[in-house]
Amino acid sequence: ANKKVLVLPGDGIGQEVCDAAIPVLDLLKLPIDLIYGDIGWECWIKEGNPVPQDTWDKIEQVDAVLLGAITSKAKKQAEQELPQALQGKNHKYVSPVIQLRQRLGLYANVRPSMYIAGNGKPYRMSVIRENTEGLYAGFDYRGVPEPFRPLIKHPNLDKYGYDAASCTLRLQTKLGLQRLFEFAFEHALKQGFDKVTFADKPNVMRESGDFGQEIFFDIAAHYPAIEADIQNVDAVALWLVTRPEKFGVIVAENMFGDILSDLAGGVMGGLGLAPSANYGERVAYFEPVHGSAPGMAGKKKANPIAMFLSIAMMLDYLGFSEAATRIQTAVREAVRKSPNLTYDFGGSASTASFASQVIALIKGQ
Ligand code: NAI
Ligand code: MG
Repeated sequence: ANKKVLVLPGDGIGQEVCDAAIPVLDLLKLPIDLIYGDIGWECWIKEGNPVPQDTWDKIEQVDAVLLGAITSKAKKQAEQELPQALQGKNHKYVSPVIQLRQRLGLYANVRPSMYIAGNGKPYRMSVIRENTEGLYAGFDYRGVPEPFRPLIKHPNLDKYGYDAASCTLRLQTKLGLQRLFEFAFEHALKQGFDKVTFADKPNVMRESGDFGQEIFFDIAAHYPAIEADIQNVDAVALWLVTRPEKFGVIVAENMFGDILSDLAGGVMGGLGLAPSANYGERVAYFEPVHGSAPGMAGKKKANPIAMFLSIAMMLDYLGFSEAATRIQTAVREAVRKSPNLTYDFGGSASTASFASQVIALIKGQ
């Protein structure tokens, strides 16, 4: 049976990079059926819900989801911008990407990067971010909640009081970390990396750090061919800039992984290049790391590379690894040989014209 993919172009440049890159699927003549759905700001304004029920129904029917990008706004602003007819009906804005990750149990966010190191050689690495717990689990309070107070003693709280404070809890579950580390080592095997580095802060967050470390080495014992390494997250940030070639797979809890993966995207050369995948229990979803870039929307100048590479990750996941490699090769060739790149590389090519150069290179393979 054909694989099924739901395309959610979303807002702003999300739609533009989808339009430019998706024709590659036709060209590769793969047994994939595409269906389309709505998500994002337009849906919020129209019906007070950024992920319509129809989109959830479609997600149930597919093997993978390809997302362009969405526009998100802070809670108050989103609610103020709702049309009059929808005001006061208790519509709550919850970020669609967070809804997708939580409802679909997408616990592993993978962000690969390619770069030329200081020694002039090309390298790859993957940052794998835990997506459901850690410092972003949602236990984030203004003031120290009453039940915690007997447990939380601190000289600053004695001085300034429990109300003039905020506190955040780092949640980690054994199963949550086991599945994350298993995913990281399997990813290393499949992608040919010889090392997995767990970036954490066990010397300061001693109990939770120790807990994570034990689970990490338990899982690592099943993968003797892969080096297992724990490093402090701040040192990893430094080495990502000075010696990125030290790393293969980097795995981290939610917030540390969020920060390191943006850093890795910067090492690669910017957001226009960075693809990502979210894997979990069943369906997986793929998207460029970048957002809807409202200031650039309509100007036809967004770089479509992140979308091409997200499509390649999706094809690999669906079992079409040869097609995925063809796209990656064409993107690399286009960057090397193209007479005109997009503005972020100092060129003036439009989204569509650069995309057609990539597509022409695939035809010529
Ligand atoms: P952004 O990623 O949309 O843009 C930041 C800057 O990165 C742009 O101004 C541009 O200089 C550069 N950039 C991004 N994509 C590019 C591309 N394809 N080619 C060339 N340059 C590119 O982030 P920003 O401005 O913080 O957010 C804009 C909107 O997008 C917000 O509403 C935000 O909530 C949303 N967003 C959505 C995401 C998603 O859909 N997963 C992720 C990040 C932001
Ligand atoms: Mg981020």
